[in-house]
Amino acid sequence: MEANQAMVNSPISQTDFLPLQGTDYVEFYVGNAKQAAHFYKTAFGFQSLAYAGPETGIKDKVSYAVRQHKLTFVFTTALRTDNEIAQHVYQHGDGIKFLALKVNDAEDAWKQTTQRGGKSHTEPTILEDADGKVVVSGIHTYGDTVHLFIERKDYQGVFLPGFKKWESAYHPTDTGLLYVDHCVGNVGWNQMNKWVDFYEQVMGFRNILTFDDQDISTEYSALMSKVMSNGNGFVKFPINEPAEGKKKSQVEEYLDFYNGEGCQHVALATNNIVQTVTELQSRGIEFLKVPGSYYDELLDRVGTIDEDLAPLRHLGILVDRDEEGYLLQIFTKPVEDRPTLFFEIIQRKGATSFGKGNFKALFEAIEREQDQRGNL
Ligand code: FE2
Repeated sequence: MEANQAMVNSPISQTDFLPLQGTDYVEFYVGNAKQAAHFYKTAFGFQSLAYAGPETGIKDKVSYAVRQHKLTFVFTTALRTDNEIAQHVYQHGDGIKFLALKVNDAEDAWKQTTQRGGKSHTEPTILEDADGKVVVSGIHTYGDTVHLFIERKDYQGVFLPGFKKWESAYHPTDTGLLYVDHCVGNVGWNQMNKWVDFYEQVMGFRNILTFDDQDISTEYSALMSKVMSNGNGFVKFPINEPAEGKKKSQVEEYLDFYNGEGCQHVALATNNIVQTVTELQSRGIEFLKVPGSYYDELLDRVGTIDEDLAPLRHLGILVDRDEEGYLLQIFTKPVEDRPTLFFEIIQRKGATSFGKGNFKALFEAIEREQDQRGNL
């Protein structure tokens, strides 16, 4: 049954040339950063962190940074039409521009990756203010998405040089979201292996799981996926590619509306998914729903779990088990007007996989939404 799921457990033979300490922040290019930041505070429970814009000496854009535990999101909007942020929003709608990774040495991260074929986006640059210095560098990945390397060990400021503390009287309670578990990229037809090679060769990641179109197919639509992980497992980037089915793959719908490759979903970790999802739903976040019959067979499939079934069924939380434990997960509907970026909420109880046992029920739920949009 697990024949298609290749687990690669071989230890890394050489030292990790790109040691990553985790996700530093995720930056979105959006049409209205002020309103986006308010939405993420209100609906997801983030707190105001930092602001950059004309008041801090930046003339062509504004950025609002918000934080919840180890999660930092930045929302940036162009103030002028003739700039790449405006162009990005025109092309893609609201979407993720930067997946910024925390490193100990941003200059070395840039050297190691560019000498292995990574295309430079930002040469190592020192940003300084009264609170210290941050070194930033970056390389391009799929689509218009960029990985920045952030070295902040000599910085004591609130976020980054150029930002000031964002003082706000509005402090919605948090929803228990802790950190980025993984970020999934959607790439074009026949492009998955190219980007798998990129993460292996340029960034030193390993392919830890593979799902082919037999694993991830329903009656109509299909996709393939490979999960890439860095050496210490702190950073995981699954890569999806559409596959042929009777109707349009959900990945193809994304590519059509995003106008190219980009980040499909970010999985946010919680220690109490029932509490987190109860809170998110009460604040208006909409989730994909699977049929009630999913729960009739759930315990037969996954065995005993700590949680009561009733709240899982009520909230629509999915459960899957692997050799190491189980996980609970749920997926939001797209959070923008275009059917592009969405979020996953995940609680891991030992499991290190990605919910393969839920793919069929989940993708049928996605197809129902696609059908309502006329895109199936
Ligand atoms: Fe995911």
